[in-house]
Amino acid sequence: MTDAGPDRFALLVCDGPVCGDDRGSAALYRQARDAVAAPDLADCVYLGRRTCFGQCLRGPNVLVAPVAPDHFGADPEPGSPGAVLHFGVTTNDMNEMLAKLRRAAGCLKIAR
Ligand code: FES
Repeated sequence: MTDAGPDRFALLVCDGPVCGDDRGSAALYRQARDAVAAPDLADCVYLGRRTCFGQCLRGPNVLVAPVAPDHFGADPEPGSPGAVLHFGVTTNDMNEMLAKLRRAAGCLKIAR
């Protein structure tokens, strides 16, 4: 996705008061955390939390965004190029997102 190297992504789960307390985003975060710990994603998907995307009534919300290798680990903004804010994410949706990231992410192409 970038010219600078393998594709890497950020996955930010909203832990704001509505997504987190009322809509169970903590379970989505745990699901993503377990998946991102696996070798096929660990080096190319950064998992973080964001406290509110301002779309609370559509939650739980998850942002997926491509990031340049030199920005890996930094939180992208919802308006950054290629970023997609997913609304009303279910565990099945998260599984689909993680499967797409496995296919799209370039971590397995990184020479170690
Ligand atoms: S609490 Fe998740 S978007 Fe506001």
